[in-house]
Amino acid sequence: MIQSDIKEVLITEEEIAAKVKELAAELSRDYRGKHPVLVGVLNGAFVFLADLMRHLDIPCTIDFVSWSSYGKDTSSSGVFRIMKDLETNVESKHVLIVEDIIDTGLTLHYLLDNIRSRKPASVKVVALLDKPSRRRIEAKADYLGFQIPDAFVVGYGLDFAQRYRSLPYIAILKPDIYAGKDTPPDELEGME
Ligand code: IMP
Repeated sequence: MIQSDIKEVLITEEEIAAKVKELAAELSRDYRGKHPVLVGVLNGAFVFLADLMRHLDIPCTIDFVSWSSYGKDTSSSGVFRIMKDLETNVESKHVLIVEDIIDTGLTLHYLLDNIRSRKPASVKVVALLDKPSRRRIEAKADYLGFQIPDAFVVGYGLDFAQRYRSLPYIAILKPDIYAGKDTPPDELEGME
């Protein structure tokens, strides 16, 4: 039972569902007539993107990117390897980046730079979670679900060592789950 690894549920399934609907209503208003391209950041954002787009009442298309940092040292200088690039030409289009969580901010900061260089009509960010106390570089969501404290969380697409993505809520794991792992959770940025 993966549920027995949970120490605490931080955000319930119902709270997430209500927030996703709220964000979708706001986005539907702001993007009316704009046909945005939703860009999901793999792997963590796939659940959030799937729920969000089902509540949008405007036409949109989707695409995904997957970025991986080269490791702890190089991630702090923002060196990323693009594992999967956009398939859409976003020039002159309205791009909405869909992120699961903003932690150090490095992924989003450099992804925004990268997307802007493709000359979209606009680029904005919707993120489900934000841990502002962990920021190492400027990065901000235009639309945000929840601010959370500095804790490593799992569920609703977010993983620890590729596990727990299927949980329908956002939770903190019991400390002994992290114990004995080579990579402590606070060094996992970029390891999606
Ligand atoms: P960044 O540190 O803002 O670049 O975040 C990079 C990625 O690290 C996020 O997109 C998440 O996939 C992952 N991440 C950061 N914090 C957490 C967490 O608390 N749980 C699970 N994944 C996380």
